[in-house]
Amino acid sequence: MSKIEPLRDGHSRLIRDVRISVTDRCNFRCQYCMPAEGLPWLERDEVLSFEELERLVGLLASMGVHDVRLTGGEPLVRREFPRLAALLAAVPGVRDLSVTTNGFLLERDAAALVEAGINRFNVSVDSLQRDRFFEMTRRDALPRVLRGLEVLAGFPEAHPIKINAVGMRGFTETEILPMAEFARSHPYEVRFIEFMPLDADHAWDPSLVLTGDEIRAAIHAVYPLEAVPREPSATARVYRFTDGKGKIGFINPLSEPFCGDCDRIRVTAEGKLRTCLFSLHETDLRTPMRAGASDDELRETIRDAVWRKELKHRVNEPGYRQPQRTMSQIGG
Ligand code: 5AD
Ligand code: SF4
Repeated sequence: MSKIEPLRDGHSRLIRDVRISVTDRCNFRCQYCMPAEGLPWLERDEVLSFEELERLVGLLASMGVHDVRLTGGEPLVRREFPRLAALLAAVPGVRDLSVTTNGFLLERDAAALVEAGINRFNVSVDSLQRDRFFEMTRRDALPRVLRGLEVLAGFPEAHPIKINAVGMRGFTETEILPMAEFARSHPYEVRFIEFMPLDADHAWDPSLVLTGDEIRAAIHAVYPLEAVPREPSATARVYRFTDGKGKIGFINPLSEPFCGDCDRIRVTAEGKLRTCLFSLHETDLRTPMRAGASDDELRETIRDAVWRKELKHRVNEPGYRQPQRTMSQIGG
């Protein structure tokens, strides 16, 4: 058998990481993502099956895409999600299998997911105050999410657990210090993510982006921070508290874009390959898969699409157009 070339884009970036959305459905309605009334969900047969996902992950892994992150919507609402996780963990070439979740079902599923081989978790928590959590997610679910986190924290293999908080001006300011204190007193690394224009309500505006630097300065004034050296393709800038109590991170896609080091692609729940969060164009993989394409043919389709991966996002440029899809329809 001839050797399979690693997956590379037209700007010489190696692709090593895929984010796969396993469902477009979600049980939350976060303001920065979904509309209050929800979205029209995909029909069941439109969504890639476990067998299709297994095949796709195997093809990607054969081209050097060894890191797989499962997202949604909310991945844990996919029926038998732990079984899917176990199938994917067993695919040859998969080295790292992680999940991004809103935590609502972690109390139920944490043990099964750790058992299945998920070794890293990102859990979204935008506020530690119940009423403000409700305001942001439109679900009164903070106590349940915190219970889920505690169950997860009981598994040493799942550490370090990462908490995602989207930074929105007018909302997040009052959350900064409680989040920092949370990171200092728990085995969780809190990461603030700049609000990106991927919200269903199209309410995004540059003025609503609370930058990582602003948040860092607010924390540093109370709890001094020092930078932890960064790995080249890491999206987060990580800081430790100088007194040794925990870490905090900043994902600054807008104020400090990291597109030059991007090693990621995404696959939507219905099998569309997206080479950037902000892509306006995508490549259908489900149709050829269901029409009987061979592994080599699928790899060629993937290579072609990846070759044209966007150089960078253009959110900060005049004339920027928001993609049709919301974050929940892409997969964080
Ligand atoms: N901007 C920034 N981050 C977002 N997320 C969802 N929508 C947005 C947005 N518009 C993040 C949330 C969630 C993950 C799936 O993506 O933090 O944890
Ligand atoms: Fe659901 Fe995640 Fe979107 Fe919130 S951000 S509505 S939890 S998909």
